[in-house]
Amino acid sequence: MKSYVLSAAVAAILAGTFLSCGKKSNEIIIGGVAPVTGEAATFGASTKNAFDLAIEEWNGKGGIDGKKLKLAFADDKGDPAEGATVFTKLIQQDKAVAILGPVMSKVALAGAPIAQAASIPMMASTATNPKVTLVGDYIFRACFIDPFQGTVGAKFALEDLKTKKAACIFDVGNDYTKGLSEFFKAKYTALGGEVVAFEGHATGTTDFKAQLTKIIAAKPEILYVSDYYNDAALIAKQARELGFKGPMVGGDGWDSPKLTEIGGAAIEGSFFTNHYAADDTRPIVQEFVKKYKTKFGAEPDALAVLAYDGAYLMFDAIKRAGKLDGPSIKAALTATDMAVVSGQVKFDSDRNPVKSAVIVEVKNGKFVYRATVNP
Ligand code: PHE
Repeated sequence: MKSYVLSAAVAAILAGTFLSCGKKSNEIIIGGVAPVTGEAATFGASTKNAFDLAIEEWNGKGGIDGKKLKLAFADDKGDPAEGATVFTKLIQQDKAVAILGPVMSKVALAGAPIAQAASIPMMASTATNPKVTLVGDYIFRACFIDPFQGTVGAKFALEDLKTKKAACIFDVGNDYTKGLSEFFKAKYTALGGEVVAFEGHATGTTDFKAQLTKIIAAKPEILYVSDYYNDAALIAKQARELGFKGPMVGGDGWDSPKLTEIGGAAIEGSFFTNHYAADDTRPIVQEFVKKYKTKFGAEPDALAVLAYDGAYLMFDAIKRAGKLDGPSIKAALTATDMAVVSGQVKFDSDRNPVKSAVIVEVKNGKFVYRATVNP
């Protein structure tokens, strides 16, 4: 009974898609979701730029099967409830045949069930929490996942920074930051280190002193900060004020110019794991960096790279599918084997690409490439 109701709903949505294609047969509507306002606004800006650039390039080459691609973009504001609303709108009202984004795991987890129920393929660009693609077989992503990212951070802290005692701080209300600290802790401990403090803070707070006081009392040699850039910068400042002198290590959520703008001297000498480094010399990377700089006047961050890669992966699948229905696009995505800026992409059985990570150092207010780590 349940599957009958679901397939009736899917049929209704597919019928709507075909009708709208009939009306505007020269266009393919692609949904795009990212937070251009809210706590992660720099993530949204880069992501939207990259969607626009990818669409412009594909349309410049004639689109797909003579049809132009059109982006229906929506701001999720970094908020899961808003994410769910815009997913429904993009699918039901705009008749998007596929969705690019979102950026944040907590928003992706709210949107993915809606895309899955409608059989609309989704390509999360940078949502790294493992649960995202487990929502269902229409949900893919362009980035590595946090068990790997946490492992890379833990090994780096143990082997390169030569520490034996770590502490973690994270946002209890954010699937990404909580999960990443948990993966870091599991690996750091499994490899012989000790996690002497593991402290969650409330979402939206700007005062981390209670958690940091406990952490510092436990005498860690390194502090793992799995928060996004705003919180990470404030945590770094307050940790220094309270006397913590050791290095800090973080994840891809640090990747914003705001990290050093807010964090200043407090964040110097810290490290984070990321998806890409602009000083990577591979031609495909340098070509992208040049194109992006020319169009937007700034160096692309990892968000831009993965949004661009995700768009290319999706468009390539739509082209290979030769049809615009969800099941055909999904089948083509599953068979992906494509070189994109962040590496060669093939999906594993959970629709995650298997890719390397880079370690970045915060040095003189800049992000400097330090190493590449393979899975
Ligand atoms: N990985 C983060 C998440 O899943 C989002 C993010 C990716 C932020 C890349 C910055 C850079 O929520």
